Amino acid sequence: MKRHFVPVYLILALATGLSCLAAFAQEKTITKVPAKPTTATSGKELFRQYCAVCHGQDAKGAGPAAAALKKSPGDLTQLSRKNNGKFPEQRVLATFKGEGGVTAHGSADMPIWGTIFTSMSSNLNESQGRIYALLNYVEEIQAK
Ligand code: HEC
Repeated sequence: MKRHFVPVYLILALATGLSCLAAFAQEKTITKVPAKPTTATSGKELFRQYCAVCHGQDAKGAGPAAAALKKSPGDLTQLSRKNNGKFPEQRVLATFKGEGGVTAHGSADMPIWGTIFTSMSSNLNESQGRIYALLNYVEEIQAK
């Protein structure tokens, strides 16, 4: 009779072990890696490569990394709507450059793209071009 209990205990231990592992695997962490250089110049492609991980492909804030951020990336298609129908160009540009505007960017989860694109390319026109391509793209996707 006693022998029958052994497998039961074994199975129980296994089950608890597995559920612990599953809980552990569900804990999300973000590993920051340096931005990879790119040859892309279109705003849409740049957005897909550098922004979608947090902001989501549709820019509505549900990128795969969003859940692990301290602050929600928000819905980038609503910027104009929330600004009386006018695209807040200066504020978005300031966000890219890490200057004021949106709360303390240096300490926030939103990377400072101005610096990242500048350090990625020795050609200033190219890095400025990428910033403006992204700015135009974000303006293009505004909800009407
Ligand atoms: C690591 C995650 C992450 C990545 C990658 C990222 N963002 Fe963000 N972004 C955020 C977070 C979080 C906020 C909100 C910051 C805050 O409110 O302090 C934000 C805010 C913004 C805002 C300001 C929205 C507003 O209300 O004014 C803009 C614009 C923006 N991001 C554009 C971009 C673009 C373009 C890229 C790609 C070049 C990008 N983001 C990449 C996390 C990210």
